[in-house]
Amino acid sequence: MDIFRVEGPVRLSGSVNISGSKNASLPIMAAAILAEGKSCLVAVPNLSDISVCAELLGELGCKVSRESDGRMCIDATTVDNPVGEYDIVRRMRASICILGPLLARCGRAEVSMPGGCAIGDRPVNLHVKGLKALGAKIHLRNGYIIAEAPRGLKGREIFMGGAFGSTVLGTANILMAATLARGRTVIESAACEPEIADLANCLNVMGAKISGIGSPRLTIEGVKQLRPVQYEVIPDRIEAGTFMVAAAITAGELRIENCRLDDMMAAVDTLRNIGVRVQAAGNGCVVSRTGPIGTADITTQPYPGFPTDLQAQFMALLSLASGNSVVIEKIFPDRSMHVAELNRMAANLRKEGPTVIVAGVKKLIAAPVMASDLRASAALVLAGLAAEGETTINRVYHIDRGYERIEEKLNPVGAKITRESV
Ligand code: EPU
Repeated sequence: MDIFRVEGPVRLSGSVNISGSKNASLPIMAAAILAEGKSCLVAVPNLSDISVCAELLGELGCKVSRESDGRMCIDATTVDNPVGEYDIVRRMRASICILGPLLARCGRAEVSMPGGCAIGDRPVNLHVKGLKALGAKIHLRNGYIIAEAPRGLKGREIFMGGAFGSTVLGTANILMAATLARGRTVIESAACEPEIADLANCLNVMGAKISGIGSPRLTIEGVKQLRPVQYEVIPDRIEAGTFMVAAAITAGELRIENCRLDDMMAAVDTLRNIGVRVQAAGNGCVVSRTGPIGTADITTQPYPGFPTDLQAQFMALLSLASGNSVVIEKIFPDRSMHVAELNRMAANLRKEGPTVIVAGVKKLIAAPVMASDLRASAALVLAGLAAEGETTINRVYHIDRGYERIEEKLNPVGAKITRESV
């Protein structure tokens, strides 16, 4: 198992390049199931979650390869085993996004129920509701969701909102299934995340007829078949946001290459409000801070609100603010494993239900800490960059799920992070 040793404090300066989006790549890889033949995707990042997805598609019968030019190719000529096994799904909950396309392609799908995880329960009731509305028969057996539609799916109007708002992968599943359904489907309260828009754009290149992309109402006119695709996924807005915080927390200056500021307005607005400069430049932006860190009240929300996937990183930053901040987690109310770890680094955070009160401190102090989930772990790296001394972060595999060798991106711009196998 790898650990990180992060030496701080450092001041970052230079340029970092943002990889393709993990959360756009995963459903787009699943979308390849919908078309017989070989689809090739550009900018799919090299991450452990992507490898798990590739393995999963391989189990279904697809041939998945990384070409020498870096493209991820998925040959879905044969999909003859429509089963998402527990052993794979338990390693990555996003595996659930094969359910819709498998059902549409094969008329049947069996996918293990994803369990809970470090950030909460992760229910799939809305995925099931949406597919049922399209005419699938669904039952649960031995921990598996078994979905059947031997005579195909039928378009319908579906409301996909739930207690916590829209669902990203739930929308992805219903959207993909509806592309091959008979007639028109309307998804109301669809997720508006840029990753869903990217999936819809990719499906349209495959021959789907989707309108309302980027809005909460998606309309899909079913087609008979889709064709394989060549498609480039969007840059990862969460990796970009994490590196923006890295510049801010170290009072440094980073040029963030390959990022779409338009997809990140909530995070950018928060940074500007607390005294961080964010200037559009070239195909990205320059982020810098010279003055003190101001305070903020953050509430996570579905897009275009503040993303839950940046909550932990911003909490690390606000730990060093000149006053009190409030961070409310409205998407995954239990997503707070980083709170106790940041407190071990001399932060002053108090959790009250889904709310964390962040009393700014003058400095963070290095400590041995434990990575728990992907974004919480990223927050610990950020805190380590600013903290005095050597922070040791255990269970780095959580970070590798969503960041391409984060130390190899941050060390050239001034970080001192070493990876060790223990
Ligand atoms: N929810 C339900 N029922 C459902 C589905 C979701 O109640 O059937 C609830 C969830 O419990 C949560 C809310 O709806 O309270 C939103 O969850 P959503 O379904 O949108 O999450 P997801 O699709 O499983 C994706 C990302 C997550 C990101 C969330 C929210 C991927 C692969 N995962 O998950 O990313 O936090 O959307 O934006 O796209 C990460 O990258 O670190 C990560 C966890």
